Amino acid sequence: MKAIVLHEIGEPENLRYEDVPDPKPESGEAIVRLRAAALNRRDVWIRTGKYAGIKLPVILGSDGAGEVVAVGNVKDKSWIGRSVVINPTLEWGNDPRVQSPTFRILGLPDNGTYAQFVKIPVINLFPKPANLSFEEAAAIPLASVTAYRAVVTRGQVQAGETVLVTGIGGGVAVAALQIAHSLGANVIVTSGSDEKLERAHALGAIGGVNYHAENGGNTVRSLAGGEGVDVVIDSVGGEMFNRGIDLLKPGGRFVSYGSTTGNAGNLTLRRIFWKQLTVLGSTMGTPEDFSAMLRLYERKTIQPVIDSVVPFEHAREAHRRMEQAQQFGKIVLRIG
Ligand SMILES: NC(=O)c1ccc[n+]([C@@H]2O[C@H](COP(=O)([O-])OP(=O)(O)OC[C@H]3O[C@@H](n4cnc5c(N)ncnc54)[C@H](OP(=O)(O)O)[C@@H]3O)[C@@H](O)[C@H]2O)c1
Repeated sequence: MKAIVLHEIGEPENLRYEDVPDPKPESGEAIVRLRAAALNRRDVWIRTGKYAGIKLPVILGSDGAGEVVAVGNVKDKSWIGRSVVINPTLEWGNDPRVQSPTFRILGLPDNGTYAQFVKIPVINLFPKPANLSFEEAAAIPLASVTAYRAVVTRGQVQAGETVLVTGIGGGVAVAALQIAHSLGANVIVTSGSDEKLERAHALGAIGGVNYHAENGGNTVRSLAGGEGVDVVIDSVGGEMFNRGIDLLKPGGRFVSYGSTTGNAGNLTLRRIFWKQLTVLGSTMGTPEDFSAMLRLYERKTIQPVIDSVVPFEHAREAHRRMEQAQQFGKIVLRIG
């Protein structure tokens, strides 16, 4: 089969389109002929050597949708021919509070979805929502399960609450905005781009702040009615963590699912204990989180937001676009 293989850490040019052996299913596994895959920031972290446990060569890619073409066990043969979307969380384990020690994300160390075929446990197959194309379905898995767990399972966002979602161009951030809005929350967003703020407004955000602007915090407070926000959903990290803590109302919740700009230095701990804040970490999601998230798309409560679709041979350009934070929503790879 054809695949995009990363042999060495470095520039997007290190993603090579080449022939690799077809995967073969073991017991409990299936082979999916992929029609579409999608990028996540994780893929860029891995390519640039900023991710733990890198093993090379590897086929990147956590998101994928396609058709099942083979299974390892006869008992699973009813899956053959079905259109599916893949849950990229491998071996979450039995504790819904936290993933198991053997938890992995498809696309490292296990070969991922930048390929014509992928091998995946049958329990990770979910029927593709009939209302979605393969490209739309591939835009969902990793970002939306992360967003669902951050907003619903961990953040417990309620109707009428004010929620700040940071770095709104990101795939997870867009899904978090949509999910929080669908719950009846008032969502405020941040971005480095005024155009992305407008696009977020069209998706239901009540307002937004460009993080390059001075006094952005005051704008967020006034959008939130003067007091601050109930919940922050953040993956920007760094100084944004401090600002988010500052912007929370007493009793507020901070949900952290990433640290794109690094660790938070100079954290003012007094604000956390004095305001009785709750800081929650969130990573990926359980199979139950994944099912509940997928239902939002099946019921058309929310729709995938696709930034662009490119042939998977052009994965290098797609990586450049993500690295430069040009995207709004998901960058999808079409697989011929
Ligand atoms: N814990 C988990 O399970 C999990 C799952 C998925 C992702 N993550 C993490 O969450 C983060 C976002 O992932 P993603 O796939 O959604 O990434 P993405 O699509 O690349 O989005 C990242 C967004 O962050 C904002 N950003 C980038 N550089 C920034 C800077 N210097 N200052 C402020 N904002 C900046 C940009 O928003 P604007 O363009 O609007 O400015 C960008 O669009 C990554 O750090 C990723 O590793 C964690």
